[in-house]
Amino acid sequence: MTIIVAKPGEVQFPKGLEGAIARETTKGYVDGKQGKLYYHGISIEELAEHSTYEEVFYLLMYDKLPSKEELSILDMRMRQYREIPDAVYEFIKDRASGYNVHPMSVLRTAVSMLAPFDDASEEQSMAAAEREAIKITSRMATITAAIGRARRGLAPIHPDFNLPHAANFLYMYLGEEQDDFMNRLMDVLLILHADHGCNASTFATLVVVSTLADMYSGVVGGISALKGPLHGGANERAMAMLDEIGDEENAEAWILDAIAKKKKIMGFGHRVYKAYDPRARILHSYAEEITRRAGTEHWLRIASIIERVMIEKLGAKGIFPNVDFYSGTVMSSMGVERKLFTPIFATGRVAGWTAHAVEQLKDNRIYRPRFIYVGPVNVAYTPIDER
Ligand code: CMC
Repeated sequence: MTIIVAKPGEVQFPKGLEGAIARETTKGYVDGKQGKLYYHGISIEELAEHSTYEEVFYLLMYDKLPSKEELSILDMRMRQYREIPDAVYEFIKDRASGYNVHPMSVLRTAVSMLAPFDDASEEQSMAAAEREAIKITSRMATITAAIGRARRGLAPIHPDFNLPHAANFLYMYLGEEQDDFMNRLMDVLLILHADHGCNASTFATLVVVSTLADMYSGVVGGISALKGPLHGGANERAMAMLDEIGDEENAEAWILDAIAKKKKIMGFGHRVYKAYDPRARILHSYAEEITRRAGTEHWLRIASIIERVMIEKLGAKGIFPNVDFYSGTVMSSMGVERKLFTPIFATGRVAGWTAHAVEQLKDNRIYRPRFIYVGPVNVAYTPIDER
């Protein structure tokens, strides 16, 4: 006799945990109807205009804007933690340039490798959680830059302790100090990617740290979830689409055909935003300047046609450009190769992962949802020869 706990489809529940509440947070708020994003109450537009990544990290971690002194202490700590062990550089050199290796896999392993080199990684206290959060956030930039260089067959450039976080990242990756516009744009990219509600990678981080595993494990969980094309991996695919279209003459026909074939267009749509993603709007304004400087205006022209047609056809369904649509055009025009877009997304998002992880640990309860079992029960075991 088969006892059915529930028949498939009998119990209604939102797939993908849509609308489920994971916990309370004071970190950030995504207003999907109005197309607004706030970090601890401050709009992303204001932060992109006035703040720095270090300050945003402080805001997310400690729920307030820092005084000058508080900011300079966090900044000093981030600079002091920048260097990574030689063995991690060696691993990156060995693996990052492999033909079929995705840099997100290298980033995931490199961050994981940091833990056994860190004597304090297993310490269980709130002070340790905060300290590890700062360490990892600082070091992710060094790892991502080293991966980017190794992929071009270049030796890593060690951190410059005199530069702010974003400027140091560009220096380590591109090999020379950049001008104020480039440094500011990198800072803005990191700020825009720093946090975004209970997205898949932040949730993955929280699930891991809720077991009281260490912060490195949590961040590795976040990197793993971010890698997928439905989440952080959409940026490189959105750029691949612009490259495939190639010419603005082809853009309208290409996108109409893709819509007719019901293809998912990367860089569009969002679980929470049913309006224009404010991060995409901010990046669009930077895209105008950086594409002009780089002579890559054709990408922006193609993107504008795609955006117009997508909104005409699917805007009524709440499908608009998201952050990943314009970040690729911006980063490519800055001289960043496509495969490094998602590691850079992670290098920004680690602030949100770790800030939420610390918040989780303050009143932790292990995540343990349930499945609805719709399979058979009490099934007799059949020996292998009788199957
Ligand atoms: N292109 C075409 N149709 C779309 C798209 C898209 N990009 N996104 C959603 N739709 C349609 C989808 O086909 C479905 O239509 P119908 O109701 O007729 O079946 C409806 O909109 C709802 O889509 P869904 O896939 O059920 O929505 P979701 O909330 O499960 O997924 C999403 C959200 C972001 C995964 C999805 O919009 C998507 O796959 N977008 C492309 C990938 C992408 O750009 N991801 C980056 C998200 S922003 C950065 C981040 O935070 O990760």
